[in-house]
Amino acid sequence: MSAFVVLGAQWGDEGKGKMTDYLAEKADVVVRFQGGNNAGHTVEVGEKQYKLHLIPSGILYDNKLNIIGNGVVLDPKAMFEEIDYLEGLGVEVTPEKLLISDRTQVIMPYHRILDGLKERARGKNDIGTTGKGIGPCYTDKAERSGIRVCDLMHEKEFEEKLRKNIEDKNAIISLYGGETLDYDTVYNEYMAYAERMRPYVQDTSVTIYDEIKANKNVLFEGAQGSLLDIDYGTYPYVTSSNTVAGGVCTGTGVGPTMITNAVGIAKAYTTRVGKGPFPTELNDEIGDWIREKGHEYGVTTGRSRRCGWLDLVILKSTARVSGLTSFAVTKIDTLGGLEKIKMCTGYKLGDKVIDYFPASLEDLAKCEPIYEEFDGWDDSVADARSYDELPKNAKAYLNRIAEFTGTRISIIGVGPKRDQTITIDEL
Ligand code: GDP
Ligand code: IMO
Ligand code: MG
Repeated sequence: MSAFVVLGAQWGDEGKGKMTDYLAEKADVVVRFQGGNNAGHTVEVGEKQYKLHLIPSGILYDNKLNIIGNGVVLDPKAMFEEIDYLEGLGVEVTPEKLLISDRTQVIMPYHRILDGLKERARGKNDIGTTGKGIGPCYTDKAERSGIRVCDLMHEKEFEEKLRKNIEDKNAIISLYGGETLDYDTVYNEYMAYAERMRPYVQDTSVTIYDEIKANKNVLFEGAQGSLLDIDYGTYPYVTSSNTVAGGVCTGTGVGPTMITNAVGIAKAYTTRVGKGPFPTELNDEIGDWIREKGHEYGVTTGRSRRCGWLDLVILKSTARVSGLTSFAVTKIDTLGGLEKIKMCTGYKLGDKVIDYFPASLEDLAKCEPIYEEFDGWDDSVADARSYDELPKNAKAYLNRIAEFTGTRISIIGVGPKRDQTITIDEL
């Protein structure tokens, strides 16, 4: 039996989609446990490229079960658009391949509207959200006014909850100067989604438990990254869910003792989309060079990603908070061609040197990264298919990551395609 977590070790976009797809070959079930269609996971198989937002990356295989867990916030409009997009590319998305937890919170049109209005009201202090309604939906969950998939399945209950929500949300929307919603229009739209969704809905906590007990391999696919975690990230410049490994338990209904491994996906450098602190950011020609070479543009919003050197303070914190059993390091090929490569191994904060990530943004703003410098490697790294074939300088760089974080590296990515992957040891 194995139940393992694949999660982002930085600010998202580390290559989780590609690694999930790669590891899913040996998995029976792939489960999303948090986030929603704010995620953008790219998977390249052969000549085809797939962009997934809400559907687990295991969907590209014919014989894997994919599950949207209760910790996810599900936008039915976006989900059916994604299903239609996948079917258009020849990927079947049947209830035999996809299940949805009946406890999953549903993103409603007023969540998307409020996401936009609240961002506008924040002015220069905006978070830079994806605008998908994620924060407002999780707010309703915590406030206990959310609508769940099981409510959608019960017309009477849905009717009552929607009426109350439309009344409340229209009042708030008006306050922010937005356009209010019509109850009947939303009701009819969501009733149509409910009918299409019904065959996919189940108590998936039971399903996952049974699969693990039957010695199947279950992979939990994270979205976003550790530093976007609502508790451990750069609050308030974070997303509204627990992206760390602990989120798997509450987000799928699986006990912590059933989880065997947690793999942190770490990009060989650092990127971030949206606002918030970023100690190793490169606002110079090297940052621009990395952005172009690594195609660092958002999959969900198309925004350009901020780029910087690898930050081991972040990776060490992620390893601790998520109890990582190993790292998968992606995109070392992108750095190929640089003469010198830097890596942050601590922050100077006043007269102290720290190697943990501070909670206060004020402290973080005062942190000066301390760098170690490495000799670079060339583009031939993309052709390596074993650790031994890697250039010696790339090995030195990778070894330092493992040494500093006290966490081994199990997989290395040398390109976006499935086969551009080096497995050091099996999970
Ligand atoms: P995710 O959100 O973590 O799944 O990552 P994204 O898909 O948003 O961004 C990662 C990008 O890097 C995608 O375009 C991937 O195809 C690509 N990618 C993943 N791993 C590698 C790698 O090892 N090398 C290169 N060059 N590209 C990679
Ligand atoms: P994947 O799964 C990178 C960022 C947004 C914003 C903040 C809050 O592809 O790694 P939200 O819409 O979630 O309320 O926005 O979080 N963000 C991501 N950044 N990758 C993602 O997903 C992200 N999902 C959200 O840019 O800064
Ligand atoms: Mg992404």
